[in-house]
Amino acid sequence: MNVLVTGGAGFIGSITTTELVSAGHKPVIVDNFSNSQKFVLDNIEKITGKKLDFYEIDVRDTDKLHEILKTNNIDAVIHFAAYKAVGESVDNPLKYYQNNLDGLLSVLDAMKNAGVSNIVFSSSATVYGDPDTVPITENATLKPPTNPYGATKQMAEQILRDASNAHGLNAVLLRYFNPIGAHPSGLLGELPIGTPNNLVPYVTQTAAGIRNKLTVFGDDYDTPDGSGVRDYIHVVDLAKAHIAALDFLDSENAGVDVFNIGTGTGSSVLEVIQTFKKVNDVTVPYEIGPRRSGDIGTCYASAEKAQKELGWKAELSLEDALKDAWTWQQNLEK
Ligand code: UFG
Repeated sequence: MNVLVTGGAGFIGSITTTELVSAGHKPVIVDNFSNSQKFVLDNIEKITGKKLDFYEIDVRDTDKLHEILKTNNIDAVIHFAAYKAVGESVDNPLKYYQNNLDGLLSVLDAMKNAGVSNIVFSSSATVYGDPDTVPITENATLKPPTNPYGATKQMAEQILRDASNAHGLNAVLLRYFNPIGAHPSGLLGELPIGTPNNLVPYVTQTAAGIRNKLTVFGDDYDTPDGSGVRDYIHVVDLAKAHIAALDFLDSENAGVDVFNIGTGTGSSVLEVIQTFKKVNDVTVPYEIGPRRSGDIGTCYASAEKAQKELGWKAELSLEDALKDAWTWQQNLEK
């Protein structure tokens, strides 16, 4: 399949691009480098041994996008391009609504005009808010979003449903849990700008001495050790879920389908720290601090639907992910 990957130079987009090539697809990347870097494209080429088709554009340029879809005979789109920092979205909501929603609308408009009807969309477990029960299934109630980033994901899901009803769009919405790790080659991974918000980049930067110590945000949650529990999914497993989603769309599954992409298991912050130390033989100084505002205690997926209907399940462990994250961090400093 010829697949347009928006945000293909980003963390998840770049690794999914390598998996697309491995699976025999032909990726075409668009990215505006608003939160990614050009060397990533060279590293994708190193891993795949293939020359990449790439366009530096903003996905909000609908005309250009339409032309790219036509010129490259695109069969399906994987739409990653979006802003994703929760805190920044609270400080700068308009930037988030503009980029994430205008971006999606532009992609859908260009697809409609070019006659492309299959899309895989990056949604998030954030749409569930603080869940009533875990593991979370896809039919759990969606909670009112607590920040503009989460709101853009809920709105985007609704836009995709409406576009499907009206225009015959076929969409797979993948609700990611907590993506971590890096490509095992050490050539692709997360590139947080400034101080990381997410746990694992903070852990790797602390282990590397870039940060003095990690703060564990609360040890008084109703969890086995009191620290927050999340479903950490290796980014390579997550990338593979997109290939499974394309196959699912290709086998004429019409309409909108939604899948949780997680491991089905929760790990606490303290477990992540201990596991990181064990597999990498490096210490992570930490202290217990207060809860972070907006955080929830426990969140992990039921991954059964994805296994049953997409034939996908996570294969890699927390250990694998933390090893790969550390290799990536060390390579970044070279
Ligand atoms: N944590 C710390 N210290 C830190 C950073 C995080 O203790 O320095 C804890 C958090 O309190 C939480 C866990 O580590 O318990 C994971 O936090 P992350 O910030 O890595 O991830 P979140 O679960 O808060 O958020 C992630 C994504 C969001 C998404 C959300 C819900 O980053 O984009 O999952 O799906 F919205």
